[in-house]
Amino acid sequence: MNGRDYLFEDSLLEKKLIDYLREELELTGTKNGCGTGACGACTVLIDGTAKKSCVVPLKKAAGKSVLTIEGVAGSDGSLHPLQQAFIDAGAIQCGFCTPGMIMKILGLLNKNAEPGREEIRKALLGNLCRCTGYQQIIDAVELHVHREKEKAAD
Ligand code: FES
Ligand code: FES
Repeated sequence: MNGRDYLFEDSLLEKKLIDYLREELELTGTKNGCGTGACGACTVLIDGTAKKSCVVPLKKAAGKSVLTIEGVAGSDGSLHPLQQAFIDAGAIQCGFCTPGMIMKILGLLNKNAEPGREEIRKALLGNLCRCTGYQQIIDAVELHVHREKEKAAD
């Protein structure tokens, strides 16, 4: 989990990954919106792929690399550039959906470092936001992709 190994008792294997994260590890950045796989607020990366942790039993994640929002920022507390882009593009209002959005986009970027607007929009279809109307979130991802391209060209 976020680069650390955890041992747990077999009795926890049937627990949902989200409940293990929030209740056992106190990693409450992963949000519980619906608990049924409908909203995306609970998204984490498992071996680099975005998954909704409310529909993943812990036994399916055991032995795999799990990244939650707490593991995204730098060890010195500096924001990940994608997080900074969300702030700069005004993509955060209440913030409830934001951890799931960030994790979903990091999963997308693992597959395609330069997604277009339509691909970003499609990737976010399973992540609900009640506040922003989505445009600023897509703008934030575009801004991040643009900044990363510029960094690579330097
Ligand atoms: S809490 Fe997992 S999809 Fe809504
Ligand atoms: S910012 Fe409030 S739900 Fe997305």
